[in-house]
Amino acid sequence: MDFEEKMTDLSGMLEKEYYELYPGRNDALKRLYTLMKKHHSNRSDALKSRDKSGSDWLYSPNTVGIMLYVDLFSNNLIKLIEHSGYFKELGITLIHLMPILKPRSGENDGGYAVQDYRSIDSRIGTMKDFKKVVEHYHANGIRICIDYVVNHTADDHDWAKKALSGDEKYQKYYFMFDDDAIPKQFEASLQEVFPKVAPGNFTYLKNLDKWVMTTFYPFQWDLNFRNPEVFYEMADNLLYLTDIGVDMIRLDAIPYIWKTIGTNCRNLPEVHVLLGLFRKIIEICAPSTTLLGEAIVEPDTIVKYFGNNERLECHSLYNASYMVEIWNSIATRDARHISWMKDYELPAASVWINYARCHDDIGWGLDSGRLLRMGFDPNAHKSFLIDFYLGSLEDSFSSGELYEFNPITMDARNSGTLASLAGLEKAIKLSDDYLLELAFKRIRLIHALFLFRKGIPMLYSGDEIGQLNNLSYLEDDHKKNDSRWLHRMVFDWKQVSEPQPIDSVHSKVLDSVKKIIETRKNYTSDAVILTENVVRQSNDHLLVISQTTIKNETILLIFNLSEDRQWLYTNELKRYGLSGKWRETIQGKIIDFDKNRIVLGPYEFFVTKI
Ligand code: GLC
Repeated sequence: MDFEEKMTDLSGMLEKEYYELYPGRNDALKRLYTLMKKHHSNRSDALKSRDKSGSDWLYSPNTVGIMLYVDLFSNNLIKLIEHSGYFKELGITLIHLMPILKPRSGENDGGYAVQDYRSIDSRIGTMKDFKKVVEHYHANGIRICIDYVVNHTADDHDWAKKALSGDEKYQKYYFMFDDDAIPKQFEASLQEVFPKVAPGNFTYLKNLDKWVMTTFYPFQWDLNFRNPEVFYEMADNLLYLTDIGVDMIRLDAIPYIWKTIGTNCRNLPEVHVLLGLFRKIIEICAPSTTLLGEAIVEPDTIVKYFGNNERLECHSLYNASYMVEIWNSIATRDARHISWMKDYELPAASVWINYARCHDDIGWGLDSGRLLRMGFDPNAHKSFLIDFYLGSLEDSFSSGELYEFNPITMDARNSGTLASLAGLEKAIKLSDDYLLELAFKRIRLIHALFLFRKGIPMLYSGDEIGQLNNLSYLEDDHKKNDSRWLHRMVFDWKQVSEPQPIDSVHSKVLDSVKKIIETRKNYTSDAVILTENVVRQSNDHLLVISQTTIKNETILLIFNLSEDRQWLYTNELKRYGLSGKWRETIQGKIIDFDKNRIVLGPYEFFVTKI
């Protein structure tokens, strides 16, 4: 469908939803249509031709992503161009460049306080450089994702500066109040996102003698989407980014983008209407661009951000619940939690992003109802996980830090790189070969756990070479209070570009990650995984999954989540019709379902097509 057809198809719904948020504002809607037409007519022919296949690329099983900070990976955008060979060799087809738009000067929450949505962070280059990056990577078959911070701007964004100078039009772009009466009403039902480093949800502006809403850091001013002007401006910026040719836009912190007194201002129904509108605008004007939503909330709430078949919202979402289940099962060696995860039916054309680590902390959002049914006390279990990944329990292999520890509730989250959390750092410190081998196997297993699942796997740069925690952030005044910098490390190029000792654990990790990606692609190259089911069996340390592809093939995944040898009794698999001898692909072992049991070594996993 071309622009006009899409417009005819979707404008009825678009209007209906627009008026839900902005009743009677047909003047504003008209302006929005004019804006969409303008963007469409300015869109390059190359992008229009890319638009013809829409967002199909997103659902290809070949899509494998990696997220990275440009400054930490390659210093700048131009140098990033030189590294496309690295990604191709690894099998990457999608790169998420962490915040690259011009941030506020000074402290900026890792770039999530944007001063200008239309310029690039000058530390890494210019808009011209970024366009070159997009062009180069597209020519190499790799897509680009960037962040779009929709909940707030930096306090030195042009709109904020105008608001600070007394311009009422721009004060209305934010939640700004003359005194603290309304802020207090809001606070009565609000929680805190950064209780330690940025307590409260409002900031007093001395020069103006006003209060402004700042859900995150005081320098991140929440945008007021109740104002149709804000919606218009943010739609304009969104389309500006799509017109550069960006393939995926990560919408940051979406649960927060609508606020109502008396609520916790998270996941409100209007947020879904807003996202439905953004989705339709994209579908009409830039259909090859997709939306990745960041909603790190309870499992049942995350999934709602896909929308439904009547109103689609984000094309893809972080599978944060699965990420937490991975770490939970690694600490407990108990596969029941992850096996019993709810299997959600997603609307058409929706895809999970599966991952183990990202730039943020791990918040322990496990399904407490399920924990209770399993006989676990959810609070005690959470404390166990926090201490385990801090490394403070005697038998913990992990080295991490607390994030946002609250001494009153004793609540916390955890920071650390995949390798350090998985035991590599301790093993190296103790120079213990046995622990080193276990850590390597654990790291490989964690990668396999998300790389083989249905959805788009997303690596976190540095994890593929087993990088350890980086303590240098403690020397930086802008970072030292935010332990998430522990796992935001400069990429260790020497592990990749210089010859390494034959037993280098980092090279072993890289080789195994490559092998896993290659296997995934060989298995599924032109066959989308349609269904995925947990195979029920009685060994609680094993996770067994069967996938079926569009070509009616079966892929069997067997993971041992413990450091002990485990047995899978084959008579329990008979009801799934599993019999005969099959070659396992990662190691080439023969798996014989006709024997009594299949033996798996520490953290071993088998992948086989049947
Ligand atoms: C998102 C980002 C996080 C940031 C927050 C505020 O959650 O992932 O790093 O601190 O939004 O923008």
